[in-house]
Amino acid sequence: VRILDQRALPEAEEWLDCAGADDVRRAIRSLAVRGAPAIGIAAAYAMALAALRSEAGKPSALLADVDRAGRRLLRARPTAVNLGWAVTRVSGAARAAATGGADAVRAAAMDEARRIEADEERAMVAIGELGSTLIEDRANVLTHCNTGLLACGAGFGTALGAVVTAHRDGKEVHVWVDETRPVLQGARLTAWELQRWRVPMTLVADTAAGYLMATGRVDLVILGADRIAANGDVANKIGTYPLAVLAKEHGVPFYVAAPVSTVDLSTPTGAEIAIETRDPDEVSAPRGVRFAPEGTWALNPAFDVTPARLVTAIVTERGIVEPPFRAGLKRLLRTGKGAA
Ligand code: MRU
Repeated sequence: VRILDQRALPEAEEWLDCAGADDVRRAIRSLAVRGAPAIGIAAAYAMALAALRSEAGKPSALLADVDRAGRRLLRARPTAVNLGWAVTRVSGAARAAATGGADAVRAAAMDEARRIEADEERAMVAIGELGSTLIEDRANVLTHCNTGLLACGAGFGTALGAVVTAHRDGKEVHVWVDETRPVLQGARLTAWELQRWRVPMTLVADTAAGYLMATGRVDLVILGADRIAANGDVANKIGTYPLAVLAKEHGVPFYVAAPVSTVDLSTPTGAEIAIETRDPDEVSAPRGVRFAPEGTWALNPAFDVTPARLVTAIVTERGIVEPPFRAGLKRLLRTGKGAA
């Protein structure tokens, strides 16, 4: 499995060769690969690698190796539900093939990983197209973190996919790119992608959002999600919740774009979503440059939860869901049809 190392971007394009599931787990943990859908696809291939690399001769022993890899992967990052979703899908496919022998299990794990990648690719294209209908000509769009190809492994991504699709379709779009402290996914990755697609953009400090909205320079906010609870509460990159509060105050639509693999009906509300806390050094010494005095304690929650009442609509590959989200999301997952 070859992974573009996002830690090195935008300065360098470096690739990581992952020989086993544990290499992929480390890549996920260290943010070499990040963004909920890309984490899911990487985890799926990690499970396939676990099956291929296992020397077990009997299906039961092979499945035990695959499950062990799955348990380790699940601990890599707790918030993005796509990780657990992919692990469950691959282990289910492997288990279903057990009567065919160990080689059938290996083949089924690899096939399922490939299917997950192909499914997500189709989902991203559909989200981009549906999401672009929410973006009018000459719109100023504010986005946070990175939700593009890098974060999704396919298409133009989710929220960024909507923007790039609108641009590709000839709309004049301008993007306010939040730098996204502390890891700077906006400044490093979203700016890099938008530059490649030649979409007009301006990089801003996260703290500029209030000023931009108060002065009428934001027509809509669109961003991604790491987990959407059954009631429509949204866990996403730290800094998302204050944007939603500001958007409400200023009457700016606040859209969330995500594949159905990010919707988690087994989590009733955002209060039950585990929020990852990362190394304090990401805050006090970002990218190895120390800003705070040595010994300063820093808190580094990687995500926050935006209550459903602040979300205007959720864009998925199956449709655009409007409030009330509980019923809309349920219908979406059960029937494959959106609410709008
Ligand atoms: O910590 P990260 O960079 O993995 O966080 C990524 C985000 O919060 C994204 O907005 C989310 O995963 C959606 S990506 C389409």
